[in-house]
Amino acid sequence: MSKQPLKRGEKVLLSIFGVFFLLAMIAYVGIETVRMRSDKPMFPQTTHFDFSEQGKQGSSIYLKANCNSCHRAMRSGTSMGLSLDGIGSKRSLEWLEKFLHDPESMYEGATLDHGLRPKEAAYVSRMPPEDLHLIAIFLSELRADAGSSVAKMPPEGRSEFIDKMIGTWAPESWKEKYQDIRDKPQ
Ligand code: HEC
Repeated sequence: MSKQPLKRGEKVLLSIFGVFFLLAMIAYVGIETVRMRSDKPMFPQTTHFDFSEQGKQGSSIYLKANCNSCHRAMRSGTSMGLSLDGIGSKRSLEWLEKFLHDPESMYEGATLDHGLRPKEAAYVSRMPPEDLHLIAIFLSELRADAGSSVAKMPPEGRSEFIDKMIGTWAPESWKEKYQDIRDKPQ
C-alpha cells in the first residue's frame, strides 16, 4: 500500500491539536519553574501535625499496613481515595478507633472497602488491637486549621461570606431546626 498524503482536514485538525499541546507544555513548564523558584508554598498550608511518641509509632504501622494505597496523608499516598490529612480535627480519637475495629457500625450507609471480607480493606479490622490503637492516635494527630476544607469547625470569628451564604440559601425553617455551630460554646 502506498503512503497517502494527509488530507487537508486532517492537517487542520493536527495543527489545532499541536497548538493546544504546545500551549499546555509552555504553561506547565512556566508554572513548574515558578513553583520551584518560589520559597513560598503555592497554596496556604492548612493541615499540620505534631506527633506524640505513640503517634510516631502509629505512623510507621500505618505506612507498613499499606493504607497509603488508598489514602493520602502527610503529602504521600494516593489522591484517588479519601485524604486523611486533617482527620483529627473532624473525627474524635474514640470514633477513629471504633471505625478501625468495626467500620460498618460507624457509617450510616454501606462502606466500600472497609468492613468484612471480601471488601478490600477488610484486613484492617483484623490487625492487632494495639496496632489499631496506635494508628488511631496517629490519625487523631493529623490536624487541620478551622475553616479549611477538611476541618469540621468554621473559621474563627464572623465571616461575612458565610453570613451571606446562610442568609441567601438556608431555608427559614432551619433556624428552628438547627443551631449555628458558630454560636455553640466550645
Ligand atoms: C482498598 C482501599 C483502602 C485501604 C487499603 C484502606 N482504606 Fe481506609 N478507607 C477506604 C475507603 C473507600 C473509605 C471510606 C469508607 C468505605 O467506604 O470503606 C475509607 C475510610 C477510612 C477512614 C474513615 C474516614 C472518615 O472520616 O470517614 C479511616 C480512618 C481510614 N479509612 C483509615 C485507614 C487505615 C488506617 C488504613 C490502613 C491500615 C486504611 N484505611 C486502608 C479505603 C481504604
